[in-house]
Amino acid sequence: AIVTFSDDNSRVRAELPTGESVEVLLHGATVISWKDAAGDEKLWLSEAAKLDGSKAVRGGIPVVFPVFGTAPDHEQTKTLPQHGFARTSRWEFLGKSTSEDSSSLSSPSVKLDFGLSSAAAGLDPLARERWPFAFNLIYSVTLTRDSLNTGIVVTNDGEKPFDCQVLLHTYLRVKDISSVTIEGLASTPYTDKVASTTNQTHPDPLTITAETDRVYTPSSLSAAVTVSESGVPKFRVTRDNLTDVVVWNPWTNKAAGMADFEPKDGFRQMLCVEPGSVSSWQVLEQGDAFEGAQTITLV
Ligand code: BG6
Repeated sequence: AIVTFSDDNSRVRAELPTGESVEVLLHGATVISWKDAAGDEKLWLSEAAKLDGSKAVRGGIPVVFPVFGTAPDHEQTKTLPQHGFARTSRWEFLGKSTSEDSSSLSSPSVKLDFGLSSAAAGLDPLARERWPFAFNLIYSVTLTRDSLNTGIVVTNDGEKPFDCQVLLHTYLRVKDISSVTIEGLASTPYTDKVASTTNQTHPDPLTITAETDRVYTPSSLSAAVTVSESGVPKFRVTRDNLTDVVVWNPWTNKAAGMADFEPKDGFRQMLCVEPGSVSSWQVLEQGDAFEGAQTITLV
């Protein structure tokens, strides 16, 4: 695989010998592009997304840590900005690993590793002020011919225990939201952040016809979520150790209200399917680690 840095060192790009590519912005360790061998983009990125570090990226795969949304009733994180500070910190590129020996020529892969810790120069200053814990994050982005895997390891490096949530806020690119169906969440209890209800369920498939903001907690970790277009499966999302799946689409009004959301009808070309651990808190004592990952497979 070829791994290159942008001239301004703001991002790293990896391309497999077969042509698939991924691009990661050090700001937030945000995956901002994932293309197949034909050059077709798989992720949605707003045309008005700020890529200069001034704001969290609107699109791609922002990393949410240590709080999902805001948690006004949670002492440790109640003063943190929405979705925490991982997506607004500058991460360090730790290196790449590739598999290109003769045995793997037919299935090349490349893994990019990123790190952020409480001691890092790139840490959002808000974090130091408002979340005084010693932590270390390693985020790995692995590209294969037909999949993208992103995984995080959170370690408590200090004496004080802390609580955290993690979410991989993936903006999938679709051609037309009106022909999208989502399978794998049937009979799965969810909290609806739009209707303010809990413990709802619905049969398969789920379609998106209005603002949607839901936290599903499937009973089984091995349950995959499949996103189809016009009945043809496109993405299969599987999870390691991430018990929840957020489904989000801002629709007309919410998209209109976000300055960095362009084009305004871009919500028709996106769907967020976000694996995470957000319906409860991971409590990490000194030396404890929490590991979670998603794999998005092109089907
Ligand atoms: C989703 C949340 O994960 O992220 C939504 O469930 C939220 O409630 C959305 O609106 C986008 O958040 P932000 O901070 O990137 O605008």
